[in-house]
Order: sequence, then structure tokens, then C-alpha cells
Amino acid sequence: MNGDITRSQEWAALEKHHGEVAGRHLRELFADDPGRAGRMTLTAGDLYLDYAKQRVTGETVELLVRLAERAGLRERIEAMFTGAHINVSEDRAVLHTALRAPADAALEVDGQDVTGDVHAVLDKMSAFADRVRAQEWRGATGRPIATVVNIGIGGSDLGPAMAYEALRDYADAGVQARFVSNIDPADITGNLRDLDPATTLFVVSSKTFTTLETLTNAKVARQWLVSALGDDAVARHFVAVSTNAAKVAEFGIDTDNMFGFWDWVGGRYSFDGAIGLSLMIAVGPAAFREMLAGFHAIDQHFRTAPFEANMPVLMGLLGVWYADFFGAQTRAVLPYSQRLHRFPAYLQQLTMESNGKSVRADGAPVTCDTGAIFWGEPGTNGQHAFYQLLHQGTHLVPADFIGFAEPHDDREGMHDLLTANLFAQTSALAFGKTAEEIAAEGAAAGVVPHKVMPGNRPTSTILAPKLTPSTLGQLVALYEHVVFVEGTIWGIDSFDQWGVELGKKMALDLAPALTSDQPQDAFPDPSTERLVRVYRELRGR
Ligand code: F6P
Repeated sequence: MNGDITRSQEWAALEKHHGEVAGRHLRELFADDPGRAGRMTLTAGDLYLDYAKQRVTGETVELLVRLAERAGLRERIEAMFTGAHINVSEDRAVLHTALRAPADAALEVDGQDVTGDVHAVLDKMSAFADRVRAQEWRGATGRPIATVVNIGIGGSDLGPAMAYEALRDYADAGVQARFVSNIDPADITGNLRDLDPATTLFVVSSKTFTTLETLTNAKVARQWLVSALGDDAVARHFVAVSTNAAKVAEFGIDTDNMFGFWDWVGGRYSFDGAIGLSLMIAVGPAAFREMLAGFHAIDQHFRTAPFEANMPVLMGLLGVWYADFFGAQTRAVLPYSQRLHRFPAYLQQLTMESNGKSVRADGAPVTCDTGAIFWGEPGTNGQHAFYQLLHQGTHLVPADFIGFAEPHDDREGMHDLLTANLFAQTSALAFGKTAEEIAAEGAAAGVVPHKVMPGNRPTSTILAPKLTPSTLGQLVALYEHVVFVEGTIWGIDSFDQWGVELGKKMALDLAPALTSDQPQDAFPDPSTERLVRVYRELRGR
């Protein structure tokens, strides 16, 4: 739909319905509808979703689906998959789904053979990764590569870093990966401290190849390498991933050793393409391609499943339900998997850089809340830190719990204990414990109110057989499409990120004032001027 979705009949129907159901407790919803647990589940690929503990009824789902239809979601999905320029503020197609489409899935967009180009890059990456893994690609002194250091930030870091952590069990060729992103020198210093230049390969990853942090870190890395092995070593120890060949060449990296992608891949949607090179070297091309097949399975599900049985659609609609009708400002993502410890950070960029917008794609201001604040930590660690607020605090925090049936390795039944915690938490959050139940257990009267567990805290549980390359790809594709569904309902452009530009420019303008004695007249405001003065005093300048 063009225009303001909050003025639609479908939105009004949901507002009315919210008035009817918001006061109902999950205990009551389960008591009134014994079939709920069996019915409110979905599968997509290997992912199983239980949404019975969400504060919805069958009618809620029907009304939300109608809202999606009103927003033109079906047409928007097709527009994305077929390469329409749905990133309107940058006039670009949005084709990350093409990064994982099989080689025979013909797709031509703007005169370009998209699938052919994607597979040419994948093949080039695979050939290079195989050479590094087989110790055919060696460093300048002839020693094999032991460590790949990815230098990148945002989408050029979070995806491969998260996925490498998730898939460490598949890193089978003795090549480890490390990730340097921050312009804080502690990051690169700490990461290079115990590395040997002769066995280190840098992958400089930047879509634009103009990002301050990445280029600065890459220069430091080059100095570190050159001071040990000389200028001629650069060609054997630096490769680049970028859309900008000119800038790669300017930096001094041979463009034969550059792995490309295209302006229709957003940074935060890019690690299943060339930005995943460090991951591919670590886990191997076969595992990487299994991951792509996992992504693709969910793409197909998203494109074809009816909305009421469509996992990304349903989860996106639940996001809208809580953000706009319950006023929930945040959403927790709680993976019961230590291997997924970077998943919430990865999702923060995916969701918040995409849907943290306050104007619609047509330039008009939005009239409802948009992207929620995503956050989380792996269970069970979070239970001993912030779950208190989830259980008894005053904020409503819808949460996604993610678990796996099979561990990669198990000791003392630890994996079953981990999973028992996941199930126990979602049950406690949904059903809580009443004052009567607590009193009946013999609690002193004065303590009873402190022990009451209100319950009615909504959660979804996503279960997968095992954390594999395929299920990881499925999970990431799931959330990519959740973002798309939400963005479509809100009518925003989920694929630009203008909001990060101003701060970058101001940092460059301010930098000279931190070091130079010359009087600066470019301070943006008196508070900042004072902070710079105090900083300079503390640094003895
Ligand atoms: O500043 C935000 C951002 O543009 C992200 O969208 C992007 O993922 C990141 O910076 C890195 O950009 P690049 O890959 O061009 O270095």
C-alpha cells in the first residue's frame, strides 16, 4: 500500500482486536483453547517455530495477515526477488536472495546476468579458498597460511564474524579466522600480537573501500607486514573484497586478488557473498555452499508459502503487533547456543540499520513506531544477568528463544540441561506463578508479592536439529525476511542507512581539533568544544 497504513481499515481492526485480547492472560488463552499448542506451530526448512506462547489468537493471526495483504506484501516480495529498485532512496535493486540462488536460476536485472555473475564470484572464492586450505597459496616466505584476518566493519565484519563463531566446528583445514573492525587501536594490536606475519593473510573487506576504520586498520596491517617481510610481500598477504576496484587498486592490492560484489547487495545482507571469504577459507567451500542452500530453502519458503504458514511473515507480523499495538520498544533474541554468541550483535545491525527509520519510503513521516531495539545474549548466561527484568520488570519484552536438538559435543548431559533451561524459561515467562500458588508453598506473607511471577510475557521458540552451515543459513534468511516484512508494513526503505552518515563526517571534521594547536572555529557546539579541550588537557596537548 502507498500511504499511511495506520489509516487503513485493517489497522483499525487490529486496534479494536487489541483492545479485546490485550487484557487476556496466556493462562486463559491456553485454558480456553486446548488445541492451541498443536496448532500454533510452523515449519520452514529445518526450522520449527512454536508461537503458542505469543499473546495472539487465531483471529489475531487472520487480522495480521490481512494487514500484510493490505500492505501489498506479496507483490513486494516478488518485486524484491525479481530485482525491482525497491531501495528507492538509493535507486537500487535489493537482491541478496540472488547470492544464494542455484546456478540454474536465471535472473537478469538491469541488463546484467545476476546469477551468472554471482556464481563466477563464488567459483573464484572457492578456488582461492581451496588453494589456501591446501597450502598451495603460501605467504611470501613460502610458509602456509595459518590465520586469515578479516578487516572490515559493520556488514563487512559482523556477518562473517558471527558465522565463523557459529561454525567453528566446521573449520577443518587448520586455518583460523580473526576479525578486526574497530578504529580503537586495541582491536588490531590485540589481534596481531601473537600472529606471525609470514603465516597471516589479510582480507580487507569493504563494500565502498572508503570506510575510515577499515582503511586505517588495513594501513596498520600493511605496515606490520612490510616491516617484517618487506614491500614485495603485500601481494601474497593481502586480498580485497569490495564493489570498488579503483579504490582497491589505489590501496595497492592487485585487483586479480579482489572478490567483487554489487551495489544491489546491502552491507548487512552480504556475508553469503564475497564478504564471507574469510569464513569460506576457514570452513571450506562445501560447507559454505551448504550454508547458501540453507538460505535458499528459506527464500523459497518465504516466496511461496501462504502467509499464515509463512515463518518470516508470521514473525514479522508479530514484531508489528508488539511494536505498534502493545507499545513494546525492544525485542530480545536469546540463542541457547554459545556458538551463536555473536548472533544478537549481528541481528542488531540487520534489524536496526534496516528498520530504524522515521520517514516512509515516499518521504512522509511515519505515524507509528518502527523497528524495535534488538538485543540479547546466549542462554543460560542471560538468565543470571537480565532475565529478572524479563520475568518481573515493568517492560513488555517479546523474546525469540533459539535452540538446537543435537550438540556438536556433549559432556555430562550438559546439552539437555541447556535445553531444559530454554523450555523452562519460556514456560515461566508465559504462565508465571500466582500469589496463591506461592502462598500454598508456605512462603511468608510479606515475601509473597516479591515472589509473584506475573507471566503473560510473550515468546517464540525456534528449534532446529543442529547448528550446521545449513541451519545457520536458514536462521539468517529467516531474520532477513522478518525485517523485510516489518519494513513493508511500515512502508519504509529497509535498505538504506542515511542516519549513519552525519556522525562519520563530523568525526572527520573534528579530528584535527584533537591534535592541532591551531584555534578551531569548526566546533559544532559549545559542549563538544569543551569536551575536546578537556581531552587535550588530559593528553597534555
Ligand atoms: O556506517 C554504516 C555502514 O555503511 C554499514 O551499512 C556498512 O555495513 C558498514 O558501514 C561498512 O561499510 P563498507 O563495507 O563500505 O566498509
